[in-house]
Parts: sequence; C-alpha cells; structure tokens
Amino acid sequence: MRGRHSIMNELVRKVLLVEDNAADAALLEDYLAFSPQAQTLRLQHEQTLEAALHRIESEAFDLVLLDLNLTDSQNLNTAIRMRKAAGDTPIVVLTGIEDEAVAVQALQNGVQDYLVKGSIDARTLARSIRYAIERNQVEMQLRQSQRMEAIGLLAGGVAHDFRNQLQVIMGFGEMLLRDDLVKKEGRTMLEQILKAAKRSATTTGKLLAYGRREMLHPIVQSVRDCVAEAGTVLPHMIDADIRLVIQSSNEDDKSRFDWPLLQQAIMNLATNARDAMPEGGTLSIETACVTLSEAQSRQIDPELAAGQYVVVSVSDTGSGMDKATLARVFDPYFTTKDVSKGSGLGLPMVYGFVKQTGGAIAIQSEPGHGATVRLYFPRIVSASVDSVVRQDAGALHGGNETILAVDDEASVLSVATELLRKAGYRVLTASSTEEALAIVEQHDSPLDLLVADIVMPGMNGAVLAERLCRLYPGMGVLYMPPGERVFACRQCHRLLYASQTGAGKAARS
Ligand SMILES: Nc1ncnc2c1ncn2[C@@H]1O[C@H](COP(=O)(O)OP(=O)(O)O)[C@@H](O)[C@H]1O
Ligand SMILES: [Mg+2]
Repeated sequence: MRGRHSIMNELVRKVLLVEDNAADAALLEDYLAFSPQAQTLRLQHEQTLEAALHRIESEAFDLVLLDLNLTDSQNLNTAIRMRKAAGDTPIVVLTGIEDEAVAVQALQNGVQDYLVKGSIDARTLARSIRYAIERNQVEMQLRQSQRMEAIGLLAGGVAHDFRNQLQVIMGFGEMLLRDDLVKKEGRTMLEQILKAAKRSATTTGKLLAYGRREMLHPIVQSVRDCVAEAGTVLPHMIDADIRLVIQSSNEDDKSRFDWPLLQQAIMNLATNARDAMPEGGTLSIETACVTLSEAQSRQIDPELAAGQYVVVSVSDTGSGMDKATLARVFDPYFTTKDVSKGSGLGLPMVYGFVKQTGGAIAIQSEPGHGATVRLYFPRIVSASVDSVVRQDAGALHGGNETILAVDDEASVLSVATELLRKAGYRVLTASSTEEALAIVEQHDSPLDLLVADIVMPGMNGAVLAERLCRLYPGMGVLYMPPGERVFACRQCHRLLYASQTGAGKAARS
C-alpha cells in the first residue's frame, strides 16, 4: 500500500543525497537541476553516513543517493547499513570506476542501482532515480499483494474450519434450548454459550470475507441505490456534529455485487470516518462512473484491468493516517483504537469483499488531512437489473416434505439432519455431492429442498444445486451454514436471503 499510496500523493520526489565530497555533491545537484525531472525532484544533502541514518529515521524519502565511500563508512558496509535503515526506500549507490565490483555486491545486498562517478550525466542520473523508484514501487505492490494473499488464505482457512465447529455448537445448543432439555440454571449458562458462539460467528464471517471465502450472491444492480439505502442508517450511527453528505451522478451505475456486503462495507468505512472525527467534521459518500486507462488502473491495483468502473468514495475530514498506518490497514486485527472500540477487521472485510467482486480499493490520506477510501466496482453497461425477490428465511416450520442434506463434515451433517427431522421433514443425507447424485437416482418421488454446504471437495454445493434444479424444477435450495446466509437457486428465480447483519433483511423486489 505504501508504494501505491506514494504514487498518488507525492508527485514531488524527495531524494536524500549522502556525499562527503562537496564538489561531487555540487555537480550532482547541478545535474538534477537541469534534468527533465528537475521540477519533481527535491534534493536534501547529508555528508556522513551517521547523519544520513539519523535523518532517514525521522523523515520520509523516496530515494537515497548514496556515495559508498564516506568519511565515516566505506564500501559495502555503507550500503548494508543504509539498506537496513532505509526500510522500503530505494537506494542508488555512487562508486568510483575502480570500485565497480563493490557496487555489484551492493546490488546483491538489496540496493536498486549503481552509478559510476565520472560517467554520470544529467540524463542517466535522472533516469536511474526514476527507474529505481518505479521498480521499487512495483516490487512492493507485488510483495504486498502476495502477503495479503497469504494472510487471506490462512485467515479464510481457519475461519472456515472454525465456522463448521461453531455450527455444531450452535446447532446442538439451540436444540437443547428449544426442546427444553436443560434445567433452569443450566439454561442461563447455555444461553451465554450460544451468545458467545454467535459473537464468534460474526468474527468468522469477517475473516471469511477477508479471505474471500464469503459466499457472495452478486446481482447486477445500481450501486447508487445500495449506497442510498445504507445512507438512511448512517445518521443513527454518527454523532450530530458530523455532517453527512451523500452525492451521486445520474449515470447508469450498475455493477454485479452483493448488496448487503456493500452496505456492510459502507458501514465499516463510515464507522472509521466517525472514529477519526471525534470533534466533528464532514463525512461524504459519493458514487460516480469513471473510465480508467491501463496506467490509471495499475496505479490503483496491479490486478485491476483498464475499463469502466463505478466508484464509491467515502471521505472524512478527520485525523488521517501516516504512512506506517496506511501500510498496515488491511492487515486483520491491525487497529490503533482501544480494545473496546476497534477490532481491526473493518478494512480487511472491505478489502476482501471488493477484491472478490473483481474490483479494488485505494486509500488516500495524510496525517491531519482526513482520508478518502475509494471502492472500484466493474461497471456493467448493457445488462438489465436482475429481478429477484428477497425474503427473510425465518424459522423452519414443520412439514412433511423431503429434504436432501449434503455436507462433507459429518458433525455438521448430523446437526442439520437432527434439526430437520425434529421439525418433521423427511431427510435424506449424503456426505458428498457424488453420493447425493447417487441417492437422487434411486429416489423416485420429487425432492422439495436441497440443503448443501457450499464449500465441499470436488463438485461444490452450488453446482450440485444447479444440476438438481434441472431434475426438480420446484425444488428450493438452502446453502449451509444455516443462520448465516441462505439462498435459493438461480434456476428457480426465487431467492431467500438471511444475513447476519440484518442490513439486507428488508424485502425488496
Ligand atoms: N477514515 C480513517 N481515518 C483515520 N484512520 C483510519 C480511517 N480508517 C481506518 N483508519 C485506521 O485504520 C485502522 C484499521 O481500521 P479497521 O480495519 O476498520 O479496524 P478498526 O476500525 O477496528 O480499528 C484503524 O484503527 C485506524 O487507525
Ligand atoms: Mg473500523
């Protein structure tokens, strides 16, 4: 993030020149003053390594131009010590013609480029600086996205397993409560257990979103409409001394996204804005359509292609963030807030959701100057809005229909089966999609409902649902886990929806 951020914020590059020879320093300054990039380069000068190391500790630079032979440090040692202190800042070293071997060693120790004194001119100097900065930015972006990918896999994987276990706890717990199987004192304890389990399920949901393993139900619809609906709740969330401004262009701003998750994302961003403005300020939410060139989209996110996007910008006039904070905001559990206030899962959730939707997120902020978070969603120009009916899933009422329950996790399957049987249904069970298909072949009366885990090895629950819907057009589909998100199948054009947040509970048509 840091690299991406500096592209947008700092058109002016700050270069730290470390050079003990006054004549050499003056020459280099002259070169830069007459280079094509003169307008965008600001040079600061230190004469010793000690002074330079001290300076870079407290001041941010875009590049260090480092003479390897200084009065207080020589050769490779100079490069190694600066590399350690400079963090992510790229370094170009300066050497004499007879020291080129040392310069090559410096490259192997992480400096970006070297220049041989005596064969430098204005153009090569400016070009080396520019390339070192840009190459470094690309490398950092790549490293950042690989890092996010790795943490996402870990967080999503743990959350997925954890959610399965929670299902067992909550499933059996709710059965015990409902069927009055526990004595009075035990009941209170059981209620506490269920409450804790529910809270954990909320955390798991956020981690699943971050790990891009949240089951999305994306629909082609207007971004503006979704933002407007979220906007109606915001005044209840923010303090009276925060002015809320919601603006949108009247363009055709459709994208394929999951409605409640975008609302959740806006809530998370608005909460952050509120927390950044304890003294009040302005929270603006804007939606607009933009066309991004290849260069623009890459600058936002290396994985983002050129094209048309719907952008949701959430800006505040609050405390803003420094570079160190910006570099870590998408890390799960990174927070600068009190334990009671922050969970550090707000921005990671937004990040995972936006990326899973095929978009990108960019943050622009400076300490004391507020923050703007932009969410980019691929714009869909031609398609019409998907027509769906959302309803609350509600509680299961007993019936005598036949239900096929499929889950590869035996304990989850047993809870679901137990629940459904108790509710009066006829239940067939399978521990894999293959087994499910085999059962269906031998079963001759129609199936009324499929209850399936969405994530299973081999063919997943959604593919199974599509297949079975062709055989039984009237069949409903519930994806597990229950209580988290429930959908019907695309084939039947009926959509049951139950979200944890309640944000999507209103029936829309
Ligand atoms: N609009 C903002 N202004 C200033 N700082 C912000 C803003 N949004 C996020 N941050 C910083 O990013 C951190 C992580 O945010 P988030 O993931 O939402 O977790 P949390 O809000 O629980 O701390 C916050 O603790 C805060 O330091
Ligand atoms: Mg937050």
